[in-house]
Amino acid sequence: MDARDTTPNNIPYTPPELGASLAPAHPSVDAVNMLRLRRSCPADMLGEPGPDAAVLEAILTIAARAPDHRRVTPFRFVVFEGDARARFGAVLKAAFVEDQPEAEASKAEYEAARFLRAPVVVAVVSSVDRAHRTPEWEQILCAGAVCQNMLLAASAHGFAAQWLTEWYAYDTRVRAALGLGEHERIAGFVYIGAAMQDPKERARPVLSDILTRF
Ligand SMILES: Cc1cc2nc3c(=O)[nH]c(=O)nc-3n(C[C@H](O)[C@H](O)[C@H](O)COP(=O)(O)O)c2cc1C
Repeated sequence: MDARDTTPNNIPYTPPELGASLAPAHPSVDAVNMLRLRRSCPADMLGEPGPDAAVLEAILTIAARAPDHRRVTPFRFVVFEGDARARFGAVLKAAFVEDQPEAEASKAEYEAARFLRAPVVVAVVSSVDRAHRTPEWEQILCAGAVCQNMLLAASAHGFAAQWLTEWYAYDTRVRAALGLGEHERIAGFVYIGAAMQDPKERARPVLSDILTRF
């Protein structure tokens, strides 16, 4: 198989053959520092450019490489780019106006423009197979891991991102517009773009508060 470039930075990648031996660890000072400094960028602070088609494919491919007990693949992606973001915004605005007809017009317009905050938004859909012997809980956790992998992959490719649910992840009209099945839920909307401002460090858990030893 030929190596192919998947990013503008010419990061070469040859997908391993099925069954190929893979190193279980890849020590990397850069990777450790990226993980230490990982920070979401609020969607309001995102802007152009977003990842191009090849980089987005690389990001999604990495995201889909999350741990998955018994290979259920309990997730799928819906990508919003270009005009699709405004088309989805119309769905949000209609639902918002239906619920709050007296609200100021600016609030309805905020909903219409919600997905325009970033060049690319990826809905990660948790898609549970209830008949499968892998517990539903584990399948849901897998979709969460996919979202986190996506944040890390975006960062490694030089893009900022934020994992959001906001009100519309849980709205029945929005669920219908996205074609979600009864067994499906939004794990997250991952907004990806360039950081217009650097987010500030926020408090992190104190390890001693959350750590015990058995
Ligand atoms: C499932 C999930 C849903 C989230 N939804 C929202 C949200 O709707 N609004 C929000 O401000 N942050 C939300 N967050 C938090 C952000 O993704 C992010 O963690 C936060 O902005 C803090 O940044 P940090 O990732 O650098 O800690 C959510 C996180 C998770 C895991």
